[in-house]
Amino acid sequence: MSSPAARRPDTVRFVDPVRNPYAPGAGQRPPELAGRGRELDVFDVVLERIARGRPERSLMLTGLRGVGKTVLLNTLRSQAINHLWGTGKIEARPDQSLRRPVAAALHMAVRELAPRHRAPDRIDAFLGVLKAFAQRAAPAGRGGAAPKLRDRWQPGIDVPASSGRADSGDIEIDLVELLTDAAAVATDVGTGVAIFIDEMQDLGAEDVSALCAACHELSQLGAPLIVVGAGLPHLPAVLSAAKSYSERLFRYQRIDRLDRIAADQALCAPAEREEVEYEQKALDLLYEKSGGYPYFVQAYGKATWDHAPRSPITAADVRVAAPEAEAELAVGFFGSRFERATPAEREYMRAMATLALVDGEESGRDDMDAAVPTAEIARALGRKPASLSPARDALIKKGLIYSGERGTVAFTVPHFGRYLRTQPA
Ligand SMILES: Nc1ncnc2c1ncn2[C@@H]1O[C@H](COP(=O)(O)OP(=O)(O)OP(=O)(O)O)[C@@H](O)[C@H]1O
Ligand SMILES: [Mg+2]
Repeated sequence: MSSPAARRPDTVRFVDPVRNPYAPGAGQRPPELAGRGRELDVFDVVLERIARGRPERSLMLTGLRGVGKTVLLNTLRSQAINHLWGTGKIEARPDQSLRRPVAAALHMAVRELAPRHRAPDRIDAFLGVLKAFAQRAAPAGRGGAAPKLRDRWQPGIDVPASSGRADSGDIEIDLVELLTDAAAVATDVGTGVAIFIDEMQDLGAEDVSALCAACHELSQLGAPLIVVGAGLPHLPAVLSAAKSYSERLFRYQRIDRLDRIAADQALCAPAEREEVEYEQKALDLLYEKSGGYPYFVQAYGKATWDHAPRSPITAADVRVAAPEAEAELAVGFFGSRFERATPAEREYMRAMATLALVDGEESGRDDMDAAVPTAEIARALGRKPASLSPARDALIKKGLIYSGERGTVAFTVPHFGRYLRTQPA
């Protein structure tokens, strides 16, 4: 009798580039969301507790560029929708007021709840308040600049704007009133409202302060509404600069690179669905190259798949493909960001990269992305620290560096120092 192996036709599994499952890209849904089970479980409990009127804190996801904050935020949103919550999402932008985007997000959230509501006039009453809120510009002198034309939102709401609620022009008062009313609609249908805010570190100081105050007020009322934010590692500092109680108001979850098991899963699970396997040595090398950073896992995975002729994929395949992955990262992930910096800012970052290498070597860190004291940067460039403040502040505003601890700066982009050190001056 022949063994099953001997009976199997002698097929070689080709790795078909058309079926390449990997997805490097901003906010691109990965073929396998690896290593985030804990965050998803925590959020399930949060949703259940809030819907039952139990106290819970809003969630803030923080992490470096490309670790998967946006993807996780979108997944949490789907989770909320599965719980029949009303949801809306905002992407904060520097110099843009929160008023119009938050109105659009709440409009969306309440539209999701409306079909299950028994009293259409309650929905209409809310929409009237929403319209008044959206159309109310900050009064001159308070909150600074007049709204730009594109900020004047004409919501597609048929009911007339009401007056006397959420329309004072003071964003803090208005936001509390608007969110309270949105939560009341959700209470009527026995669920909640979740507002998701991506790139939250880019909100203006006044808006951050108003949002903290609103979350504070709503949690005291036990109202079923939460804000789920995502941002760079200095988001906690941005929030606590606005309101000192923010540390107790939010639950921070650091989204980090994937550990070895999760990174292997991110590569192997989608491959398995295409009946493609990896040799162990190939996975070793892929982890060494990606450092477990989700964006890099996808980028190296994609290039390797394209180059591998057959399954199982080998370490030699990874070695052949790596330069292509690196070239693509240099243009798309690193280069596009580097180009946003002025010559003075580039000089500042080059000094950072050199110092981070020294610090990294001294402390034995493998990723060389250590935070660097700003005083050392000034010394390295032979400048007075104060004269470098504009460059530093501009780089923070552009989201290229952040200041996690006072007096230090670090790159928001993983492996950015390594990239800069390979660039000609
Ligand atoms: N858990 C995960 N498992 C596998 N791949 C992931 C995971 N999370 C994210 N990715 C992949 O990583 C890449 C970056 O994800 P995402 O855009 O969500 O990162 P981010 O933290 O929002 O980055 P940025 O700060 O630049 O906005 C995407 O290609 C995505 O498919
Ligand atoms: Mg993102």
